Amino acid sequence: MAPPDYSAQVLREPPVKVTLQPSNHPYLNGAWTPLREEVTVEELPVIEGAIPTDIDGIYIRNTENPVHQPLGRYHPFDGDGMLHQVSFSGGRASYRNRFIRTRGFEAEQEAERALWGGLMDGPGVSTRPGFGAHGRLKDASSTDVVVHRSQALTTFYQCGEAYALDAETLEAEGIAPWVPLDGISAHPKVDLETGELLFFNYSKHAPFMHYGVVDPAGKLVHYVPVPLPGPRLPHDMAFTKNWSILNDFPLFWDAELLKKDIHVARQHPLPSRFALIPRHGTPDQIRWFEAAPTYVLHFLNAWEEGDEVIMDGYFQHNPMPAPLKNADGYGHMMAYVDEHSFKPKLHRWRFNLATGETHEQSLDDRILEFGTYNQRMSGHPYRYAYSTTTKPGWFLFNGFVKHDLETGESWSLTLPEGRYASEAPFAPRVNASSEDDGYLVSFIIDENRGTSECILVDARDIEAGPVCRLALPHKISSGTHAYWVERVHLPR
Ligand SMILES: [Fe+2]
Repeated sequence: MAPPDYSAQVLREPPVKVTLQPSNHPYLNGAWTPLREEVTVEELPVIEGAIPTDIDGIYIRNTENPVHQPLGRYHPFDGDGMLHQVSFSGGRASYRNRFIRTRGFEAEQEAERALWGGLMDGPGVSTRPGFGAHGRLKDASSTDVVVHRSQALTTFYQCGEAYALDAETLEAEGIAPWVPLDGISAHPKVDLETGELLFFNYSKHAPFMHYGVVDPAGKLVHYVPVPLPGPRLPHDMAFTKNWSILNDFPLFWDAELLKKDIHVARQHPLPSRFALIPRHGTPDQIRWFEAAPTYVLHFLNAWEEGDEVIMDGYFQHNPMPAPLKNADGYGHMMAYVDEHSFKPKLHRWRFNLATGETHEQSLDDRILEFGTYNQRMSGHPYRYAYSTTTKPGWFLFNGFVKHDLETGESWSLTLPEGRYASEAPFAPRVNASSEDDGYLVSFIIDENRGTSECILVDARDIEAGPVCRLALPHKISSGTHAYWVERVHLPR
């Protein structure tokens, strides 16, 4: 096969300034090797299959690409955020990737060196005040990306400022003007039915959490405290038509060490708590529910049925894993990003608004996380969930599992050794006839060939493997989250 033709690709100039030196760091090599070039390709070459004409929208992924030599010890979530976007329409696909030019990124480009320490560093490493709940970190905006009002909004996992980029061109459009002083957490939620964006933030000062709603015009119309007993580390939220669901898990910073500005998460002998607040509710309307102790990184869908609010997510069976052995001093970090260490499993919580009781059940015994579903079902009963599997010992996605939550059936697709996926949101087929009529969209990092691809998998038959493979112009780095937006939700 002839090599892909990239004669039409355009490199963004000038290139970013880089000082990071080669090392044997487990998350700066292989599929986590940082990428620095920024490229636009108007038409991606097809490697296998054909681009379906019934997929119309944008896939965006956020990845970690540190450019400067770290001041202390590098953690894979410290990297500078970079968006990779593929825009599908009419059987064609374009690609572009851009660094997220955060205030921290720009300051370090000007200084030509790192100015902030990272997650694994203690006090005294950062040279400037930091951002978010932690307070000493650079807001790299490298965790998640959602699309609201035709803008890609990038977020940082311990709260940050939310940077806006035009979803189609990836032109920078600055910090989202509605973001409050305490920032927003990594996972704001877009309700496609109402056009609203729902979010929360958390901090080390009372009331420790806020919840907010941004309207379809981009205005912050609701922002209320959700009082907690102290600083917490919530990561994700869920919503139904009428309720937003926040959480207070017993894994949070050690209070005594926090007084010395040392941030170490500990599991405390407390239950999990979930806060149900009406979409535009006030603090006095919050309904708290207790549940089995755990920590949850990510939730799937939530909905209402009679007196119950039902929510799916990934219950961690070992939220405080032991360090991995033989990891060159990185064992603690590596365990905390290794799903086979913290053991998340598909789980369902049922909150009864009439009795105040919680009922919960495990839905699958496999290690699964980073799930997606048809976003058209958000807040409503749904049937199909798509989870990812990971390579034991590593934060690398090596396959997908589809669940039929009505029948309990499941199907899986495991990638060949050396091929790693990204989070794979569901893209509904144009004029879809059923909930699972669409594609899973993912990037692949191929360590065997040193290349990357964008793949489409028919969600009705994931075991058949990709129906289309597109060649990306460079090997991308791995990262955390990705998003799909249908073109009908990109008004201009
Ligand atoms: Fe996340």
